Amino acid sequence: MAYDIQKIRSYFPILKRKVYTKPLVYLDNAASTQKPIQVLKAEERLHNDYYGNIHRAGHYMADKSTIDFEEVRGKVQQILNSPSREEVIFTKGTTESVNLVAYSFGERYIEEGDEIIVSEMEHHSNIVPWQLMAERKKAIIKVLPFNDNGELQLQKLDELITPRTKIIAVAHVSNVLGTVNPIREVIEKAHEKNVVVFIDGAQGIQHTSVDVQELDADFYAFSAHKAYGPNGVGVLYGKKSLLEEMPPYQGGGEMISEVTFEKTLFNELPYKFEAGTPNITGVIAFGASLDLLKEIGIENIAAWEKGLLDYATSGLKEIEGLTIYGESRNKSGVVAFNVEGIHFYDLGMLLDKMGIATRTGHHCADTVMQHYGIQGTLRISVGMYNTKEEIDLFIEALKKVIRFF
Ligand code: ALA
Repeated sequence: MAYDIQKIRSYFPILKRKVYTKPLVYLDNAASTQKPIQVLKAEERLHNDYYGNIHRAGHYMADKSTIDFEEVRGKVQQILNSPSREEVIFTKGTTESVNLVAYSFGERYIEEGDEIIVSEMEHHSNIVPWQLMAERKKAIIKVLPFNDNGELQLQKLDELITPRTKIIAVAHVSNVLGTVNPIREVIEKAHEKNVVVFIDGAQGIQHTSVDVQELDADFYAFSAHKAYGPNGVGVLYGKKSLLEEMPPYQGGGEMISEVTFEKTLFNELPYKFEAGTPNITGVIAFGASLDLLKEIGIENIAAWEKGLLDYATSGLKEIEGLTIYGESRNKSGVVAFNVEGIHFYDLGMLLDKMGIATRTGHHCADTVMQHYGIQGTLRISVGMYNTKEEIDLFIEALKKVIRFF
């Protein structure tokens, strides 16, 4: 099926707007994607037609909301190929998913002197929760490094894993380097030694297909807002055998089956980990973005974005004094770079004035910056709706800014 870019763009009314009188070129999709009309309409429909709190009341509105909410759990199950619905937990976002596992897995499985491996290319949200847990449990954090190309030094994993290693936390796709990590190999190596693996899929699910059964993933987390859905919604997939053993992360309504002052019995999965009223609107609207991903096909999106990545990379490489960080063999649509003699903030600010939205700074990945001995970079990241014409506008604008300096 041909990739109908005009049709796809028509789903995103915001792309037609102008910024400082210039057509918007939105290249900050790794931070958050824009929302299609289907998602906006789903939110509107819910609140105009049938909104009610879920899982609690027996009235029509609550029932209909509950059915739609749970239907989205089924859609997530499908996109991940999760063996069951109980293994799909809704959270606030990837960050909450990591915190949930770090806390709850930590409580159940980590003892003093145990080891946790994180990769050097992680987002802060896949480092700090593990550090907090390690501090609490007197455990040790070890680091799996990457090489200058931005590829994990997988061979080092064999030395890093010891009988004390309990869990490895690694990104599916780096939000700075764009590296698509060989998570299947990481999982295989870990499982040979009975080590559990947590995959941060915040930059993964919207760019590449994921099959948690094929991967034999223990945990896989992602956020809706980076996958064309609303913000404030995330997913944690976890193997039932682990989730059942893990204690609740938060207490509240919904996560219990019975409460007395003496003792509380917890609800079954996935509700044990869904305390309080969840983001009903967000989850239901997320269903519409999952439908869109399905309609277009993740493989088609991946191929389209690869074309954009290659096009942008070759355009950038022609610019003198420009350094790209991360040139792994398997790369997703993210390019982080610096231009010699010009601060990334200045570049980003002037590009913005020309209608080009990029991200500047450390991208919540200080350890990646430390690897290259830099303070930050400018970063572009593409989505399903970007075009080569937009990449041309970006490169042209960048050249203009460089000439200005
Ligand atoms: N994690 C997001 C990014 O990389 C916010 O921009």
